[in-house]
Amino acid sequence: MAADAAMMLDAQSYDPGQRPFGRSFRRTRSEGPGVADDSELPAVRQPAVRHDPGAPAPAGIALAFTGVGKIFPDGTEALRDISFTVGDGEFVAVVGPSGSGKSTLLRIASALTEPSYGTVAVSTAVPGYVFQDPTLLPWRSVEGNVGLLAQLDGVPKPERRRLVAEAISLAGLAGFERHRPTALSGGMRMRVSLARALTVRPSLFLFDEPFSALDEITRQRLGQEVLRLYGQERFAGLFITHSVVESVWLASRVVVLSTRPGRVLAEIDVPFDYPRQVELRFDAAFGRTARTVSEALRESFA
Ligand SMILES: Nc1ncnc2c1ncn2[C@@H]1O[C@H](COP(=O)(O)OP(=O)(O)OP(=O)(O)O)[C@@H](O)[C@H]1O
Ligand SMILES: [Mg+2]
Repeated sequence: MAADAAMMLDAQSYDPGQRPFGRSFRRTRSEGPGVADDSELPAVRQPAVRHDPGAPAPAGIALAFTGVGKIFPDGTEALRDISFTVGDGEFVAVVGPSGSGKSTLLRIASALTEPSYGTVAVSTAVPGYVFQDPTLLPWRSVEGNVGLLAQLDGVPKPERRRLVAEAISLAGLAGFERHRPTALSGGMRMRVSLARALTVRPSLFLFDEPFSALDEITRQRLGQEVLRLYGQERFAGLFITHSVVESVWLASRVVVLSTRPGRVLAEIDVPFDYPRQVELRFDAAFGRTARTVSEALRESFA
């Protein structure tokens, strides 16, 4: 996803006061007041200075943070001296307390936010980005939402149709192409968000607690879907979560962040091969790894 498109879908960058893409503002009566059509696509707040998505990553590395820190203009220090890498095809999870700078870290990785110091190297200018909120356009169908990024990127229609159909099938949404977001469950909306990110065929996927608002069973099923997609596509993944179990189940390495300012407290290898089944969670070795992550996380509150 290009930084512009990511910005459009990111709640923090959303500026309802700005007209989208310089197009005229229009409401249709049939849908009542509020959002009605593409003339009201969420606005892109232009950054004062457009910045580079980061330096190219060395061979074999999808994403590398080196000594990265973030201090916001109001003096809030969100991140301090963060260094870790995500290898090509590697799936890394980040767990940390609320406010430890996890979202800020992802925003820095995708060039939505600039670091105050340190360097970020990324292997692609178009990572897939799945936000905590699905941020779907309510007047567009599933198909229309999934195709949004490709449309904004100017991908020709026949190619876009192919990408959308493939992503819909990968995300398990076949049969729901014409549904509007209001006719979908929370879990299905998240699938649409996932499918939309898949259309950029990302080699690097950034997930910001995408399932935290969902019930446990839906969350597990979507976790399984992510693992299935990972098995098929072998993208590099950086998955933010509050859940220790989710982090160990999905990732091959878990990075534990401290309370704010977020620092790396531990990097814990997860010794299980892919593909992984839900039952792995009941394995004694799984329990031991989860315990190690939990203990590191508890240290962050010490
Ligand atoms: N634009 C901003 N200006 C000032 N402070 C900010 C800004 N954005 C985030 N922060 C602060 O930086 C810290 C880290 O925020 P961030 O959203 O990255 O945390 P998080 O780990 O994702 O939290 P959560 O788990 O609750 O989502 C918080 O204290 C937050 O208030
Ligand atoms: Mg967050």
